[in-house]
Amino acid sequence: MKILITESIAEDSVQYLRDRGYEVEEYLGHSQEEIEQHIKGFDAIIVRSATKINEALLNNADCLKAVGRAGTGIDNIDVKACTEHGVIALNTPTANNMAAGELAVAQAFAIFRNTIQANEGVHNDDFRRGNWVGVELEGKTVGVIGLGRIGSIVSRKLKGVGMTVIAYDPYVATEKFDKLGVRRCQTLDELLAEADLITLHTPKTKETYNMLSKEQLYKCKRGVRIVNCARGGLVNEQDLADALAEGQVAAAAIDVFDKEPSYNKQPGEQNFENVLLHAPHCIITPHLGASTVEATAKVGQGIVELIDGALKGELVAAINMPQFSGSVEEIKPYCSLAEKIGLMYFQAEAAPINKVEVRYRGELAENSGTGIITLSLMMGLLKGMGNDHVSYVNAQECIDECGIQVVETKTESIQRYNNLINVKFFTEDGREFKINGTVFGPDTEVIVSFFGYEMNCPLSSTVLAIKNNDVPGVIGRIATILGSHNINIASMHWGRKNQDGSDNPHAQAFVAVEQAVPQEIIDELEKAEGVLKVSLLELNK
Ligand code: NAD
Ligand code: MLT
Repeated sequence: MKILITESIAEDSVQYLRDRGYEVEEYLGHSQEEIEQHIKGFDAIIVRSATKINEALLNNADCLKAVGRAGTGIDNIDVKACTEHGVIALNTPTANNMAAGELAVAQAFAIFRNTIQANEGVHNDDFRRGNWVGVELEGKTVGVIGLGRIGSIVSRKLKGVGMTVIAYDPYVATEKFDKLGVRRCQTLDELLAEADLITLHTPKTKETYNMLSKEQLYKCKRGVRIVNCARGGLVNEQDLADALAEGQVAAAAIDVFDKEPSYNKQPGEQNFENVLLHAPHCIITPHLGASTVEATAKVGQGIVELIDGALKGELVAAINMPQFSGSVEEIKPYCSLAEKIGLMYFQAEAAPINKVEVRYRGELAENSGTGIITLSLMMGLLKGMGNDHVSYVNAQECIDECGIQVVETKTESIQRYNNLINVKFFTEDGREFKINGTVFGPDTEVIVSFFGYEMNCPLSSTVLAIKNNDVPGVIGRIATILGSHNINIASMHWGRKNQDGSDNPHAQAFVAVEQAVPQEIIDELEKAEGVLKVSLLELNK
């Protein structure tokens, strides 16, 4: 498979992909239009903040399965369009927090003490230190806008230097403010009126775009200082340049622009213009927030591992998947079991279905990740129908297109197992087929009931589901046929029905085998005396 990388990530991470057999092209320093033209034939693309994953790029892509945003902000990713195109969108939301938080703190020091301008002066033979008298942070008030991951780091660190920390974030519980020892501002205006330093840490959204414009800048104390290491455009660039020129804002540190330059071009090739480049008392860095050795390694490794997992069809935490509060690792075995149950149906039964009911029992019913487990079930069902392109992102859409209704229910009441997935497949002709499964220990997937037969069968990748008359000699005949074709039996499990004196007792065998079983052998098994039906269940699709 082919992976395109349009902005640089750690070389070790690129090698990680090559070592796993991916064909990787580093296509750095190209324009958006060139990238949109180049995307054909790639299964995944890895970008940072400058490349836009938009409708035009997605329309040109012919086999794109995953987009990896090596970093936090996803304002350059059209997540909705990715979902519509069935493309998994991934990012590394925690890998560069510390780097970005530390840069904001460093820039606060720099604009309180004028270190950048003084350094420039000294290198131009100007040692007049009287020009660069600063102010101290200790005893001042910092207003943090956005108390998420990075805002929290910055709050903790600036508290440590003796600042009073106040913050505005309408979406965060008061408990978090209290834990951090940060005073909550009920309105943005309250923060603006009190802060000597304002540092922004929100995402770029319709709501936050230009959230500090002329009106807000003039609600601040005269001489306020501003740090923006979050996203360009949170502060209106022209209004900030004017406020700096007029002295309303004493100084600003800007790491990010509304329209970003290319970070890979040579000096002289850039042709980049921005009003803040000419504003007084404004120090500018080229989107350096994530640029530490540690963050580069973590972001690079984080994104390539996610891309590798997504391309292998594994469950990975994607932006455009149902979000849940638990960990992916915790639900992974249930997702794997549900996908196998989905896969089983059309390998064991031909009747078209119009409804699937999945019921989570026991502790599983309390898990917020059942939506993802249900998506896994749909993926299995769709793969069993021959859909090779289904993923967590488009499973719901594909199922809807097939006209199959999937209903999820939960009950905490348990019968024999602490956790159970009950699946009922409803056929168009009014019949009902049930498969129930559970997970023992960390990851042993077990089928406990199949099409009405109770059993206890740990799953393996290839299983022969054999329905037979429950009479002596059948097992021997099955084993003899398999043995005569050199097919090794790994395990055998039975479920039995009608044992209570009925003259028609049946059994359902699950025979796990270690080799592929060609159709001729299945035909031979079906002809054996006492055998009623043989289905080959291939569960590792
Ligand atoms: P986060 O999602 O953890 O936190 C963002 C916070 O902003 C949330 O708590 C949210 O409730 C809050 N918020 C949203 N809308 C708001 C509004 N209107 N008013 C006030 N608060 C609001 O994100 P994070 O990981 O802390 O990242 C913060 C920002 O930093 C993002 O824009 C991210 O892209 C950027 N970032 C920049 C760099 C860099 O290199 N400069 C590096 C990493 C992250
Ligand atoms: C991010 O959102 O992670 C940062 O902007 C860093 C980056 O993309 O380089």
